[in-house]
Amino acid sequence: MNSEQFRKEAHRMVDWMADYMDNVEDYPVKPKVKPGDILKQIPKRAPEQAESFEAIFDDFKKIIMPGMTHWESPKFMAYFPANKSYPSILGEMLTATLGAQCMSWVTSPAATELEEAVMRWLGSMIGIPDNFSGVIQDTASTATLTALLMARENTSNFGINEHGFSSGSNYTVYCSSETHSSIEKDVKIAGFGRENLRKIAYDDEFAMRPDRLEKAIRKDLEKGFKPACVIATIGTTGSTAIDPLREISDICNRYEVFLHVDAAFAGTALLLPEMRWMIEGIEQVDSFVFNPHKWMFTNFDCSAFYVQDEALLVKTFEITPEYLKTPEDERVKNYRDWGIPLGRRFRALKLWFVIRNFGIEGLRERVKKHIELAQAQKETIENDPGFELLAPVPLNTICFRFHPSYIDDDNKLNELNSKLLEKVNESGELFITHTKLNDVFTLRMVIGNTNVEQRHVDEAWELIQKKSAELI
Ligand SMILES: Cc1ncc(COP(=O)(O)O)c(C=O)c1O
Repeated sequence: MNSEQFRKEAHRMVDWMADYMDNVEDYPVKPKVKPGDILKQIPKRAPEQAESFEAIFDDFKKIIMPGMTHWESPKFMAYFPANKSYPSILGEMLTATLGAQCMSWVTSPAATELEEAVMRWLGSMIGIPDNFSGVIQDTASTATLTALLMARENTSNFGINEHGFSSGSNYTVYCSSETHSSIEKDVKIAGFGRENLRKIAYDDEFAMRPDRLEKAIRKDLEKGFKPACVIATIGTTGSTAIDPLREISDICNRYEVFLHVDAAFAGTALLLPEMRWMIEGIEQVDSFVFNPHKWMFTNFDCSAFYVQDEALLVKTFEITPEYLKTPEDERVKNYRDWGIPLGRRFRALKLWFVIRNFGIEGLRERVKKHIELAQAQKETIENDPGFELLAPVPLNTICFRFHPSYIDDDNKLNELNSKLLEKVNESGELFITHTKLNDVFTLRMVIGNTNVEQRHVDEAWELIQKKSAELI
């Protein structure tokens, strides 16, 4: 492809992109394909000869599009959103065009310095104290692994980086039993061992019980374990429960345990000053992550990671081979030392575009609207005698189940709701997902798509009611 063809195809593609965004609601939100349906349409071997871009793009429309789940659709109320916006997409287009690999200051000074500036903006927009430093990671999973490695080195005085785990290094990590699965994965990768992860009991609202945390830490200390890290969640994946940070941070302070906060989804709500109660105690936190790529209109991937002790972070990861040394090293940030991978995408650009094009006010307005839509829908569900709310709704995620009055057996209700989920999702008109809360099959409806409106919530609810009526 030459530049002339590129220009022609790119214009055509941008038209396609704008049409897609305009018409995304018309697609079945969850595709009607079976496992293997797409794979069998793709030749077993790559082509020896060049193919025209027209042919490639035609196949994209014919083969790929029918197999896509439309995360962009306002009918997508599953998992947590990975929402996006026009300025973010434009930022990604420029990032791809520049193709910069932003591992060091010298490999793209503007990328490094924009990241520093934008992370400062973002931190102050969500109430992170000024003495924290921020860096963009790919995902919250990686950011939490980074935090665990910092905690490990903090506890071992950098001994594990040097000597590896010895038989006496019996470190423990704490989180609630409602914590995201990435924490367990990260604990395995960081070498702590799954049996040293203490899952602390939660209260009636699915938030970590600080009394149980303290008890577990004490018990471990008595037995000779070394508590290395506590992970508090602001907005659990199951029900957006909010662990009580003030009390947890006091405990961590008392026992000198590293405290990481996982606010992967709910962090965006901190744009609203009235939601800052969720991070009371932040000044005692060691690290904090939230994903603009979930709810803050910024394309996946973009995970904002903040640490209080920049030197600890850099000392945990820094390695400077001769071929990466530059004369500026003493005066600049080399973000390759702020995390796991060497190579880094230019992610700050899309975030800069989003923040400037929405403005803080615009971002707040949209997030507030999502929360209001969800709160109104929560009331609708609460007032419907055929349905039952299963968890508090502090934000925009509603946990509920279909519960006809004549059924009180939990197993039967679990089965009924599992069927309801299947019926709703196979309609192509709505995509919601489930979890289990206290072993109860729970439907989750998340109202956080960039363009979701009242009518989408109403249509979703009508569909759920219709499909539930068909089951009895
Ligand atoms: C609370 C929480 N933490 C971590 C994650 C993992 O996020 P990522 O995909 O960015 O690793 C999720 C994903 O939904 C989450 O809800």
